[in-house]
Amino acid sequence: MSVADEILELFGEGGSGAYFGERVTQLQHALQSAHCAVLAHADDELVVAALLHDVGHLLGGNLHAEIGVIDHDSSCVEWLRARGFSERLIALVSGHVAAKRYLVATRPEYRERLSEASTKTLALQGGAMSDEEAQGFAASPYFRDLLRLRSWDEAAKDPEAVVPGLDTYRQRIEAAV
Ligand SMILES: [Fe+2]
Repeated sequence: MSVADEILELFGEGGSGAYFGERVTQLQHALQSAHCAVLAHADDELVVAALLHDVGHLLGGNLHAEIGVIDHDSSCVEWLRARGFSERLIALVSGHVAAKRYLVATRPEYRERLSEASTKTLALQGGAMSDEEAQGFAASPYFRDLLRLRSWDEAAKDPEAVVPGLDTYRQRIEAAV
């Protein structure tokens, strides 16, 4: 089975589940994130990172009833690597929670924009970064992309949005592995 087929199947099986505490499903959230990336003229790999940023929830693991797989940012790293995704894509996916912790620490107004569920999970994810952590995060070669991905993640929680389907991303997925 190709990686794209595997991913399409994964979303087919688990994608209809609720995206914890939000009014969209896992699949809707992933598709809306990816579509935001497309609208922002992101490169294909960044679009795929947006699509897959929460794949850790679908892979299962250390499950918390309210917030899903607790370490969903890092638990999928080996899974992505085994499928041949680049270190950049892996860094983007695995850094999307750190990006939230960075933004909360450095932009006071950002915390106000977080959804209720995202605010709740923040505490369990370590809360705002320390100054030292924030400096380290800002030095990442993917810093700008990480913040862009985070903004799409935040925007991808609209229960009314109608966006292109999963098949739209098949070629981009194949090109990213
Ligand atoms: Fe997300």
